[in-house]
Formats: sequence, C-alpha cells, structure tokens
Amino acid sequence: MNNFIYENSTKVYFGKGCVKEYLSCLVEKYGKRILLAYGGGSIKKNGIYQEVMDILEKAGAEVAEFSGIMANPTYQKVLEGAELARVHQSDWILGIGGGSVMDCCKAVSMAAVSTKDIWENYWEKMGIIDFEPLPLGVIVTVAGTGSECNGGAVITNEERKIKTGRDYPQCNPKFALMDPTYTYSVPVKQMVSGGFDILSHIMETYFSEPDTDNVSDDISEALMRSTIRNLRAAVQNPKDYTARSNLLWASTMAENRITKLGKKCDFECHQMEHQLGAYTDCNHGCGLAVLHPVYYRHIYKDGLAKFVRFAENVWEIPRGDKTDEEMAREGVEALADFIREIGLPATLRELGVTEHTPLKEIADSCNLSPGSYRKMSHEEILEIYQECY
Ligand code: NZQ
Ligand code: ZN
Repeated sequence: MNNFIYENSTKVYFGKGCVKEYLSCLVEKYGKRILLAYGGGSIKKNGIYQEVMDILEKAGAEVAEFSGIMANPTYQKVLEGAELARVHQSDWILGIGGGSVMDCCKAVSMAAVSTKDIWENYWEKMGIIDFEPLPLGVIVTVAGTGSECNGGAVITNEERKIKTGRDYPQCNPKFALMDPTYTYSVPVKQMVSGGFDILSHIMETYFSEPDTDNVSDDISEALMRSTIRNLRAAVQNPKDYTARSNLLWASTMAENRITKLGKKCDFECHQMEHQLGAYTDCNHGCGLAVLHPVYYRHIYKDGLAKFVRFAENVWEIPRGDKTDEEMAREGVEALADFIREIGLPATLRELGVTEHTPLKEIADSCNLSPGSYRKMSHEEILEIYQECY
C-alpha cells in the first residue's frame, strides 16, 4: 500500500425509518434555524418533504426553504442559497436530495460564511479554508454520487462553461440520514444512471496504480460485483429493499475514500464527462456510461494485467486459452453489454449531442489530468468523443 492519511467525519444513520428516529435529535444538536434545501420538487410528490416538515415543526425548527436546485448545480444557484442563509441567519443547512443538492449545499455552506468569491478562490483552483463553513446535514434520496460521505462538490460555472469538482474535508456533511425506501420513487432511468455512477467511481479508482496486491482493489472488486448484481435486481423490482439498500451503501462506499486509499486514481472519464456536462447539461451517470467502454478500448493495453483481472474477477469470464489481450477486451465488452442490458445510453446522440455541439472546443476545455495508466491528449479526448457520437 502507498502511504495515506484517512479520516471521515460524517456520521451515518442508515436504514428504514432512520429519518423519523433521529432527525429531531439532530435539530436539538445543530440548532433550530435551518436552511432546508432541495431540488425540483420530487420530495413533494413522494411524501418525503411532508414527513420531514412534520418532524421539524414538532422539534420547533424555524425553516427557510431553498428550493429548485437543478441537476448539475450552478454557481449562481450557490450564491442564491448563500444569500438566503445569511438573511435567515441559519444555524445549519439540511439538504434533501442527490448529488446535485448535496454538492450545492456544500458550496453554500462556504459561500454563506466566506467574504471571498468562492468560485475564484475555491473552485477555479484549490484554496485553503481558513473559516468554519455552516454545518451541513443531508437526507439522501438517490444512490449514486456518494456525496454524503465526502467533501466533494461539483459546481458548474455557466458563464465560464466549466464544471469542476473540489474536495474539502471541511465540507463533509456532519451527518447523513440514509433510508433506502426514500429511493423507491427514483425513476428507473435515474436509478440506473446513479448505479452506473457508483460503478464508474469504483472503476476510476481500480484502474490505477499501484497494481501490486492491495486491500483497496479487493474491496473494489467486491463492490463492483455487488453493484452489478443489485442493479440487475433493482431493475427487475425497484421496490426490492435488499437491492436498494445495497446500492445506497455501495454508493457511499465507492466515494467515502475507502477504495481510494493508497491508489493514484484515474478519473479521466469523469473529467471528460464533466466538461460535456458544462456544455450540454447532460445527465452525469448517462454521460459516464457512454464514455467508459470507449475510453477503456483506448487504454486497456496500457494497464493490460489489470483489465485481465477485471474480466476474471468482476465478470467471471473463463480464461480458457485466451491471450491477455483477448481477455482484457472481453472484460471491456462485458461492461458495454451490461450498459445496454440495464437500458443506459451508448451514444452521445442519445444524450442530446448533435452535429452542432462543439466537441473540439469541449475536448480542448478538458483540464488534462495526469490519469493513471496514460495521460490523454486533447486530440485523443476528441477522438473518444467522436467515437461516442
Ligand atoms: O430535483 P428533484 O425534483 O428532487 O429530482 C431529482 C433529479 O431530477 C431526482 N430524484 C432524486 N431523488 C429522487 C428523485 N426523483 C424521485 N424520487 C427520489 N427519491 O433525480 C434527479 C437527479 O438528481 P441529482 O441529484 O442531479 O442526481 P445525482 O445524485 O446523480 O447527482 C448528480 C450531480 O452530482 C455530481 C454530478 O456531476 C452532478 O452534478 N457528482 C458529485 C460527486 C461528489 N460530490 O462526490 C461525485 C460524482 O462523480 C458527480 O460528479
Ligand atoms: Zn460520478
């Protein structure tokens, strides 16, 4: 294992009924003035909003609502939330939703307190947080990003056409309430998108050095097998509690840093997807599903032994007398087949990309990260986009 320091400050309350059981105690602990943040209104349709409001009312909370957080939250929306929190003098923020709500709340928790322009100082580049952000607690309603147990927040600056994620441990939610039954109402299209995001986070970590025997890779393989199995079960029956609870916890496990310990991490696919998102507002998990197989067809020879291991241990492809290259290739194609099987898109056209989308400009706007097995050039990113089209 490479050297690492590990800490995760988020307290997790997991399971059916956890919101009813614990939320009022958390109001006692963090304060009565709450900025209640949520998305486009799904929580009003599925009853979560009413359930939470009843608890908050009984606990004597004074609530200001910050609603309409969009998928791929924007910096403008962050500023709106920060202003509300300041005027209301909120003690803390309670975010109810998925990655978009949680990420937006993390940025709001900083912008409500800091006197600096947080985009310039903390998203455009890494900054040093020399203040206490407002405390944040979250109620997770969709499995996918794992944002509940990390300090990561992905924000889109629409003006600049940049979607970028930064990870500040000070932004880890203080607590996460995770009731798998809250995810039952997620539309199947979003459920598989979030499920693929889980898989993507694990793969982006697994396909990276060091490849010498390490605990992180073994955990990743178990998590990938679990995610694939439970995603299949949840597609069959969206109200399968076992499947939904496993997916919800797998999404946390994939992004609570456990699988990343001692690993370099790749995240090239995320980088390519985020910039596509900045220009087209495409769905995060769906964008990843389109990109991953094509990206892996480009790089599998650079990490051949690991791709062979992926084929054997994740997809259980028999070795027979296949060459390493044939095995590796079959693993990547098994991933592509799975994407089609669960109904995810396989082309950028399905995400709304057209011949007028400036793919070259988008490729050029990708910040070339070191990658793991190979650093991509802007030309190769463009090739990948074109092959995905
Ligand atoms: O907005 P509402 O009406 O609530 O509807 C949402 C939204 O339309 C809906 N939804 C959520 N829970 C639901 C539900 N619908 C019915 N029933 C429920 N229980 O689902 C839709 C998508 O929600 P969103 O939060 O956008 O999805 P996701 O969790 O995939 O988050 C995506 C965002 O997170 C970022 C992505 O880039 C994207 O901006 N990411 C954040 C990461 C992090 N902080 O660690 C890592 C990821 O790699 C990712 O980049
Ligand atoms: Zn992701």
